[in-house]
Amino acid sequence: MGKILEIKDLRVSYHTYAGEVQSVRGISFQVEEGETIAIVGESGCGKSVTAKTVMGLISTPPGEIKSGSQVLYFGENILEQSEKEWERYRGAKCSMIFQDALTSLNPTMNIGKQIMENILNHAKVTKEEARRQAVEMLELVKIPDPALCLKKYPHELSGGMRQRVMIAIALSGRPKILIADEPTTALDVTIQAQIIDLMKDIQKKLGTTIILITHDLGVVAGIADKVVVMYSGKIMEKGDLNQIFYGHRHPYTWALLNAAPSLELENKQQLVSIEGTPPDLIDPPVGCPFAARCRYCMNICTEAEPPEYVMSAEGCRGQEERGSREEHRTACWLYHPDSRYQDIEFDKEAGI
Ligand SMILES: Nc1ncnc2c1ncn2[C@@H]1O[C@H](COP(=O)(O)OP(=O)(O)O)[C@@H](O)[C@H]1O
Ligand SMILES: [Mg+2]
Repeated sequence: MGKILEIKDLRVSYHTYAGEVQSVRGISFQVEEGETIAIVGESGCGKSVTAKTVMGLISTPPGEIKSGSQVLYFGENILEQSEKEWERYRGAKCSMIFQDALTSLNPTMNIGKQIMENILNHAKVTKEEARRQAVEMLELVKIPDPALCLKKYPHELSGGMRQRVMIAIALSGRPKILIADEPTTALDVTIQAQIIDLMKDIQKKLGTTIILITHDLGVVAGIADKVVVMYSGKIMEKGDLNQIFYGHRHPYTWALLNAAPSLELENKQQLVSIEGTPPDLIDPPVGCPFAARCRYCMNICTEAEPPEYVMSAEGCRGQEERGSREEHRTACWLYHPDSRYQDIEFDKEAGI
């Protein structure tokens, strides 16, 4: 399995009347083919802007993808592709589903027509074949009576069923990557779990690479191979699921996990809220963006931006690049080689 997607120093801003909103401020991560990577972080940290960039959906202006940013799809920088190439890419190579399936579906068209239209856009097939494939897609997403569902309108379906239809539409071009932006946020907990199970199942069947975006760490535990933790347009920590859940090193990841009510995590009965609010992205602070809310903040944290440190079970291994393999990395001054706090144990009660 190779790298399907590589994001390098991505910076995206929006030009507004109030000023330049620096939505994404230099993020890098990579995605292996066939894996599920989760992008997590509080609302407003730049998750959707990142996803939209990968889909070629940033309208410029008011958006601006800063020069030097790269999004490599199998090694090719897709940020340089023409609108025609984007059209060929969307749906067939990469598809996206959004949080609210009711507003994403066309209320004036029945489900069958919407799925078939998408299939006909991506493949030269007859109407009968498109219909057959539409039924197949609805079967894939486990809709009980696909033939009946084809005739229904979006408002006639439940929230969970609508999200299943959205997934069917997104997958109908057989994309290699499926980006799911808060796919379960609008759904109640049991339905959330069903949709996550469905995505796992689809990945097994089709080998689709999944980028799951969520503010809810509980959702991530059941499905992700890797996790990227974003805050204020930057990546605070990234690693595989176990590293992030059980070996996290960034105080923000710790705070996020302690603020998340989750079925999967133990010893989280006592939830800890993260005091304060994220910084203004029009005028972000120098240093670490989390410093103002961090109980482990040191002087350096408000003065200089922390580099990414490579972590290992024994502790910090310094800043060196170690091949192209992505490792557990934390952007936090606590892990500077001269820091006294490298072995820090986060504590709900005490600071350092
Ligand atoms: N079209 C836009 N115009 C201005 N600002 C925007 C626009 N889209 C997003 N932003 C800003 O960019 C930041 C990141 O937004 P977003 O990626 O949507 O966050 P989230 O992590 O909740 O998905 C936020 O501060 C948001 O207000
Ligand atoms: Mg969002």
